[in-house]
Amino acid sequence: MTYSTARPNSLAARDQETVLHPYTDAVALRDNAPIVITRGEGVRVWDDQGRDYIEAVAGLWCASLGFSNERLARAAYEQMQKLGFYHGFTAKSHEPMIQLAEMLLERAPVPMSRAFFANSGSEANDSAVKMIWYFNNALGRPRKKKIIGRVKGYHGITVASASLTGLVNNHRSFDVPLPGFVHTMTPHHYHEARPGESEEAFAARCADELERLILAEDPDTVAAMFAEPVLGAGGVIVPPRGYFEAIQPVLRKYDILLVADEVICGFGRTGNYWGCQTFGIEPDILTCAKALSASFLPISAVLVNERVYEGLAQESHTIGTFGHGFTYSGHPVPAAVAVETLRIYDEMDIVEHVRAVGPHMQAALRERFAGHELVGEVRGVGLIGAIELVADKEARQNFDPALKMAVRAVKLGEQHGVISRALPSDTIAFSPPLIITTAELEEMVEHMGQALDELAVQVRRERMAVVA
Ligand SMILES: Cc1ncc(COP(=O)(O)O)c(C=O)c1O
Repeated sequence: MTYSTARPNSLAARDQETVLHPYTDAVALRDNAPIVITRGEGVRVWDDQGRDYIEAVAGLWCASLGFSNERLARAAYEQMQKLGFYHGFTAKSHEPMIQLAEMLLERAPVPMSRAFFANSGSEANDSAVKMIWYFNNALGRPRKKKIIGRVKGYHGITVASASLTGLVNNHRSFDVPLPGFVHTMTPHHYHEARPGESEEAFAARCADELERLILAEDPDTVAAMFAEPVLGAGGVIVPPRGYFEAIQPVLRKYDILLVADEVICGFGRTGNYWGCQTFGIEPDILTCAKALSASFLPISAVLVNERVYEGLAQESHTIGTFGHGFTYSGHPVPAAVAVETLRIYDEMDIVEHVRAVGPHMQAALRERFAGHELVGEVRGVGLIGAIELVADKEARQNFDPALKMAVRAVKLGEQHGVISRALPSDTIAFSPPLIITTAELEEMVEHMGQALDELAVQVRRERMAVVA
């Protein structure tokens, strides 16, 4: 059977008959052919109809060096020729894994002791959760196991990381969160602050709420908190001034570990090498993925500090093994690509580049959208930004979710040659490849501006139709 809008035997039609897509309405897909991307270059990708798009979210906030790269291709090819696979189980090792561990530890935002490798952000966070449980067993604290995430936090979709995630659509019908995962409030000043409340006062209130949650749960049962420096998939929510300064003492007071989820923010995205540096975060554990290998091959890492490492080491010695690891933990080919990626970042001075173009993106988004009739808030830092659509600017009230306003805006954007991403609360995300130029940023903003103007016309027409 060939579904409606795809040409018979086209890639789109074949896709509709064979693929179960992540993050897609599977029934709607039968009537809406997917966009089939066939090649990429720089910040642009091309579909099988020959149309080109600026990829304004770097795929999934990840293709930091764009969509093709000779050096990364060569690094993978050469590693495959030399040693296409080996592993790290039972005290085996290989050079790319060792080199990558050294490079990550050298670059870590706070002293870290060891790197563990996995294949995705979800696996890194799941591994971190298990390490935290293992660590507290090592310390003879078997009750100290609960993990705190945040409402609208995103940490992935495996069972523990989905439990950490604080988004409805990652929980609904999947029977998560698991018991023992709790969520504290979203630090989003625009929606959550009281009238007249300063960012600092709001940050202090977030810390109070966190402490109340810890006390209600019993501090002896709370092991760790996970936090993204900027909440990404939950809506590009930049914490209010003073947020991490306020919450970290609360965690320390109750001996609760802090895990920084740098899966999006790591490697320059926020204008520092790590989001931790942008927001004054001193984590015990750091997870990263995505831009670690410019996303050309899957790889992620968990960095643990000396205290955590020592606990894990002792417990593994008591048991006789650290019974955790993936077949592909530290796989030599993605590890070699990641090593080359980090070298490229050093050579191009990725942080300086983001510091140069990031403010340009933030200013361009604000200039084009802050006064737009559909936009309530423009926010972001470095090369991550968002605009949030609202039905009522004064009341900061979103549209009825059933209207799927951001999805409509994103579709219109695609017609104008920009791929962006619709997030909860009608937020449209921008997180382009870090190599983007100011000219490309301007093109991105201009075309999304045209899309949003078209949506505004449609909304006015629809409102008139309702009144009539
Ligand atoms: C902050 C954060 N953590 C974890 C993940 C999960 O990573 P993955 O999709 O590689 O499992 C994501 C994915 O977008 C993310 O944004």
